[in-house]
Amino acid sequence: MPTFNQAPVRQEINIQSPRRVIIRQPDDWHVHLRDGPMLASVAGYTARQFARAIVMPNLVPPVTTMAAAIAYRDRIIAALPLDTAFTPLMTAYLTDDIDASEIERGFQEGVLTACKLYPAHATTNSAHGVTDVRKIYGVLAAMERIGMPLLLHGEATDRHVDIFDREAVFIDRILTKIVANFPALKIVLEHITTREAVQFVEAAGPLLAATITPHHLMINRNAMFEGGIRPHLYCLPVAKREVHRLALRKAATSGNPKFFLGTDSAPHAVGDKETACGCAGIFNAPVALECYATAFDEENALDKLEAFASENGPKFYGLPLNENTVCLEKTEWRVEADFALGGITVVPFLASGLVPWKLSGRGAVTSDY
Ligand code: NCD
Ligand code: ZN
Repeated sequence: MPTFNQAPVRQEINIQSPRRVIIRQPDDWHVHLRDGPMLASVAGYTARQFARAIVMPNLVPPVTTMAAAIAYRDRIIAALPLDTAFTPLMTAYLTDDIDASEIERGFQEGVLTACKLYPAHATTNSAHGVTDVRKIYGVLAAMERIGMPLLLHGEATDRHVDIFDREAVFIDRILTKIVANFPALKIVLEHITTREAVQFVEAAGPLLAATITPHHLMINRNAMFEGGIRPHLYCLPVAKREVHRLALRKAATSGNPKFFLGTDSAPHAVGDKETACGCAGIFNAPVALECYATAFDEENALDKLEAFASENGPKFYGLPLNENTVCLEKTEWRVEADFALGGITVVPFLASGLVPWKLSGRGAVTSDY
């Protein structure tokens, strides 16, 4: 990636309709890097734009121990060119019988950054997930005590709940209880998709935050059915009505420190998407930052992009802000139709479509910082 001449940061992002934005380098607070040949091929798309990423543990088998997290972290680093400046932040996958002392040791020793709660059968590779949140109350108590964040896939799994209501029902039935029982627990409600989630997070205390994906800022549920069924726009939580997309845009661009970037980039082989029972997940890493810039530009809120993408996340996690910068330019480009990744074809978000913003380089820190 080319470097660019450092230009004043603030001036450029404060003018009304900038063609170039330079921000502190962002992090991705929720990504699926996969494993094996898929990992080797997709990790670079995340590392090209983000300095750090919270790596999801839903492998087969899931990452439930310190040893598995260390081995996975090593495989991620080995998958990237030697000089890549990228730090994977590892998470553990909570199961009904996960060992609380292992989680605590993993956090204390700097191996694990957070724990991920997948309600059993909520999404891809969640068969080992938690069947009843009360079963892991001991682990949550330990996490609360040591300050380890809990990351939630916030969807109720009761088959009788309408798929478009699952997030709101999860908030009502489960999240309210977790918050009430563990008032000092840091919680991230991941990839929120509804106005209800926005409102709940806004009303809660400072220990509850949320990530927002680029695709949920760009599409509503109609996009999945435009002219026929569009499997590459299917993810979980599924995109909702327009009113919810607008609420997410408002939250992301509000400057509220409780909302931050998490792409939920989740690649699947094309054959696993275009089939009778296709997998949930959108591979947005090749276009993620560009999509966020586009959405913020459309909302006339490019001056809020840096807080959302690069400041709110590290502040919530208690990590330092990145020192270097990235540059985005308003230059329309066409997204690839697909990627042949180590023998696996993957179709990205907005395949063959036009994106108005492009990541054009990385630079060193400016004196502004
Ligand atoms: C994710 C995946 O494929 O691992 N899929 C998705 O639709 N987002 C799992 C998840 O985060 O739900
Ligand atoms: Zn995810």
